[in-house]
Amino acid sequence: MKSLKVGLCGTGNVGSAVLDALTKNPEITQKQGGVQLEVILVGARKGKSAVRNKELKVVTDLRQAASSDDIDVFVELIGGCELAKELVEIALRNGKDVVTANKALIATHGDELFKLAKENKVQIGFEASVAGGTPVIKALREGLVASRVQWFAGILNGTTNFILSEMSENNTNFDVALKEAQDLGLAETDPTMDIDGTDAAQKASILAALAFQVPFEFDSVSYGGIDQVDLEDLNYAKELGYSIKHIAYGNLNEGKVNVSAYPTLVSKELLLSQVGQQMNALDICCEEIGSTVYYGPGAGPKPTASAVIADLVDLANGGWPAQESGSQVNKISKKIIKPFPRYFRLEVKNEAGAIAKISSIFAEENISIEALIQHEAKKLKESLQDTVPVVIISGSVDEEVTSRLISSLESMDEINSQVKQFRIHNAL
Ligand code: HSE
Repeated sequence: MKSLKVGLCGTGNVGSAVLDALTKNPEITQKQGGVQLEVILVGARKGKSAVRNKELKVVTDLRQAASSDDIDVFVELIGGCELAKELVEIALRNGKDVVTANKALIATHGDELFKLAKENKVQIGFEASVAGGTPVIKALREGLVASRVQWFAGILNGTTNFILSEMSENNTNFDVALKEAQDLGLAETDPTMDIDGTDAAQKASILAALAFQVPFEFDSVSYGGIDQVDLEDLNYAKELGYSIKHIAYGNLNEGKVNVSAYPTLVSKELLLSQVGQQMNALDICCEEIGSTVYYGPGAGPKPTASAVIADLVDLANGGWPAQESGSQVNKISKKIIKPFPRYFRLEVKNEAGAIAKISSIFAEENISIEALIQHEAKKLKESLQDTVPVVIISGSVDEEVTSRLISSLESMDEINSQVKQFRIHNAL
């Protein structure tokens, strides 16, 4: 039977789950993968107290762990960028394959690291960096290798999907839902990365590199977070036949690639709209076959550990086909050119002619109004009676025209606060 000697750094939730799985149930990968995975050493600055299994050899010098002659593969699970990058580079230079769950590392330094791996004739596995236990990297670089990706749309952050689902289904307050997500071990150490969209944007840039053969270039991803979504928006969306999800989107058009991640209304007719709780899902649309959708857990210790171990099995079986990511076949364009239908919410003075003025501003920009909701003011809270919320669903409009439209609306005397805007994903 093939075997692999493993050294691992990072003994948090995910690292501990990997160690538990490899030491308590080694027969799973033996029977199902034909591979024996042996943990040779664990790097932990705190020493033995950091690991549950006291029989494991622990070294406190992480650099020593990454370069040890006793291991074939180095598993990086410490997170963050600086030290993680240094350790991965040490391992690669010492001829070790690397497996990592670190999306920030791959999204920011992927090209450099893959170049170094190639020079040292070793490989890097990063299945766990996107969608955890749901094998979307494998789908992109193996299952869909014969097809050309046109676009992908995905729910790639479990924490924010959990929060939006709880708010929408149970009227749960944002802070309570976030605390529950943290208790489930879904959130990042600093949950700002989940909430402001950084985590999903990093994952989107990894998917784009594989899907469109562009560099790993997190800096070129435009993104926003779910902190912009109010319960009111979730309720209006529901009324209009949509749910609001945080959607990472990538598309290729005439050699130009756009990658972005924003709260987005998703038509109830689409599978993505039904993805609740902490689940992830990715719809990949290819020229040859249309859409394929991948659904499953994308966060939490066990799903992430499952992806890390699957990479170890793949490595023992020879690794992955050479990939052209980073080869710059296509280019990332920071200017988002794809037009989307959009949702607008405005707080409008309740007086004659206000809606007529709003619709004339849409008409001036040649944007069609597809739906409009304004509830009678008497149904609303007393304090708001001099203004009413108006929600508009527009036809497709690009970013530039949207910004212009919003500036014109916000300069109207009849509009009282900032105009809220989300994209709509309704491709079938
Ligand atoms: N914080 C991430 C999430 C963990 O909630 O999806 C997996 O990357």
